[in-house]
Amino acid sequence: MSGGAEAGRKGRVVVADDEESVRWTLTRALEREGYAVEAVGDGEAAVAAVAAGGADLVLLDIQMPGLDGLATLSRLAEEAPATPVLVMTAYGSLQTAVEAMKGGAFDYLAKPFDLEELLLAVRRALEVRSLASEHSQLKAALADRRDFGGLVGVSQAMQRVFKLVGTVASSDVTVLIQGETGTGKELVARAIHLHSRRLGRPFVPVNCAAVPKDLLESELFGHERGAFTGAVATRRGKFELAHSGTLFLDEVGEMDAALQTKILRALQERVTERVGGEQAIPVDVRVLAATNQDLAAAVRERRFREDLFYRLNVVTIDLPPLRERMEDVPFLVAHFLRAAAEEAGREPPEVSPHAMDLLLAYRWPGNVRELENVIERATVFARGAVILPEHLPETLRGHGTEGREPGAPLAQPLRGLLAALGEGRDGQLHEHVLALVEKPLLEAVLARCGGNQVRAATILGINRNTLRKKMRALGIEGGREPRKGRDGDPDASPS
Ligand SMILES: Nc1ncnc2c1ncn2[C@@H]1O[C@H](COP(=O)(O)OP(=O)(O)OP(=O)(O)O)[C@@H](O)[C@H]1O
Ligand SMILES: [Mg+2]
Repeated sequence: MSGGAEAGRKGRVVVADDEESVRWTLTRALEREGYAVEAVGDGEAAVAAVAAGGADLVLLDIQMPGLDGLATLSRLAEEAPATPVLVMTAYGSLQTAVEAMKGGAFDYLAKPFDLEELLLAVRRALEVRSLASEHSQLKAALADRRDFGGLVGVSQAMQRVFKLVGTVASSDVTVLIQGETGTGKELVARAIHLHSRRLGRPFVPVNCAAVPKDLLESELFGHERGAFTGAVATRRGKFELAHSGTLFLDEVGEMDAALQTKILRALQERVTERVGGEQAIPVDVRVLAATNQDLAAAVRERRFREDLFYRLNVVTIDLPPLRERMEDVPFLVAHFLRAAAEEAGREPPEVSPHAMDLLLAYRWPGNVRELENVIERATVFARGAVILPEHLPETLRGHGTEGREPGAPLAQPLRGLLAALGEGRDGQLHEHVLALVEKPLLEAVLARCGGNQVRAATILGINRNTLRKKMRALGIEGGREPRKGRDGDPDASPS
């Protein structure tokens, strides 16, 4: 379907969409721009077209009959890994977009999009492709992108983070990444960079808390020779070094007022000035910032400039602490085990169920970084065999219960219970298990109160009549009826 005198000058694009009108529109627009286009109606044909004629870029619709977009994507990733794929998704199916990005798509376009947007994305993808064939380091970066820059997470909270990363990556907006220590702030910043058009350009991190305050300015903006004692040579600052790439300002809450002002100016005017210099140096830098302190509070307490705060905080990504997304733990464990095993050149070890329970019961104050360290250490101690509780640090094995979830001892019996229940409780499991737990709970509380139903009801936070009804229903014996006027029973209606 290619045509036009200068078609092909800029490269060959394979378009796959099951809708004839879409194929026609895209073909016309791309050919007018000088691309050679082959348009096909399904995924199978797209893979074949790439295999037969090669492609500099594939434009792929996600919802197609037969081999659907995601399946096509993974086929292309295998068979033509260097070919960037731009995915087109229906508006609103961002989840698919995220899947597609994880599957290695270069970028995605949400339908309906206008042709300008499309052409921009195409140009950007081809530009990266031509760079990629030059730099093997870029190929590695593209490969890294396939697993979302190494970010693991199945929890809703992390899925939301991935979506945000996907959404903000393609623009140049400033993003403030917030989260406790070790939650993955830097990894998220790198993922944004990896998925941006600045891929292959520098990613320059600066830890504002690690550089002595009086040196931070020169670190960020550079200095001219002789600007201060010790400035023996001219030095370029991180802003300059990050030119055309991304500057990651880590622990951004840790800079003094003068420097905050200078940063604000750099962000607004897109120029920097070396210490002791007089020349304004233009820079094209995307800034990402991170903090583990409450920056809004710092603003209220006038420790941080409000205007800079709003300038940095165009979009916020909040990384929840690991203890609030424990469902990620098994996946992170597998991820770190694989990484450690790869380094040692052997198969990743298994984790015993008891050891996994301990991992799931701990509160992880150091978040993902702490988990990573624990797994690295355990791999060493387990020497490639199964990871057992004794390979985990003392703190997790919990002599004493500090740092442990109070519900921890229940984890093991609950697993047993689930195994015993087997299949077939779909849709009622929550109710069923809670009912099973209710009886021993009521019995335990009643026993602790010496059978006093009023006190038991108060502790449980339920009405005494409710308690009595439950006791009858669950077949719980006894319990002491309070004598009127002695125990007092303001909650219960007379019965
Ligand atoms: N979701 C994740 N998937 C895989 N690895 C992760 C994830 N989150 C964090 N990590 C790993 O945990 C470690 C800590 O992450 P990172 O340095 O990004 O955290 P941080 O929030 O910047 O911490 P700090 O506040 O201490 O600087 C890194 O080795 C990182 O690779
Ligand atoms: Mg960090």
